[in-house]
Amino acid sequence: MARRKKLYEGKAKVLYEGPEPGTLVQYFKDDATAFNAEKKDVIEGKGVLNNRLSEFFMTGLTQIGIPNHFLKRLNMREQLIRQVEIVPLEVIVRNFAAGTMAKRLGMEEGTALPRPIVEFSYKDDSLGDPLVPEEYIIAFGWASQQELDDIVSMALRVNDWMSGVMYGVGIKLIDFKIEIGRVWEGDFARLIVADEISPDSCRLWDMETGQKLDKDVFRRDLGNLRDAYTEVARRLGVMPTNV
Ligand code: C5P
Repeated sequence: MARRKKLYEGKAKVLYEGPEPGTLVQYFKDDATAFNAEKKDVIEGKGVLNNRLSEFFMTGLTQIGIPNHFLKRLNMREQLIRQVEIVPLEVIVRNFAAGTMAKRLGMEEGTALPRPIVEFSYKDDSLGDPLVPEEYIIAFGWASQQELDDIVSMALRVNDWMSGVMYGVGIKLIDFKIEIGRVWEGDFARLIVADEISPDSCRLWDMETGQKLDKDVFRRDLGNLRDAYTEVARRLGVMPTNV
């Protein structure tokens, strides 16, 4: 079998050199980690589900004109993506209080926010991805003011679309994280959505029962993670045949 050059291995994905310049192959592993990899497990089939679900969300974004890194799915666990220079931020959009926000502000999880809130963490595992104000981002040059404005409006458009899609299948989009990459065109950097969008990076609650259908099932030992992700895939009509 042809060997491909591994460029990066993260907690849930591996990036290999792609067939054409400017492309990469993104491989979805079955590994689940939480609390900055203090908690780890292998959930058989998770990679296959997330490959499909990220394809679903990214192609949907393409259809509504939000540029992203997805080019095509190659097989059950791999997709061809555009190579980007990652902006070192986790861009988090919240519609309802949960997770670190609920804890920080002493709010009950599930409380509706007055409007969607966008926040940023600095991507650095050794620091535990600390929350950072916009002021830091500009001052340290992680993104320009114009880029930051564009990132916020892109994140809110992603939120509008995803909230609607999930609402249509009886799921509340509580919050999610996206990453943004730069594609250089001469001196100009175009921003696109990168990394992945999957139940690993979203909070998804069943509208009727409040059942969690996302990575909190693993983080908080609430049941079978694969069943939860399979339910999301089933409702969205993207069930892989061979998980
Ligand atoms: O933990 P917190 O409440 O800040 O997470 C907000 C959202 O961002 C959740 O949907 C979570 O799954 C996602 N997230 C992520 N990767 C991180 C941190 C948060 O996907 N490193």
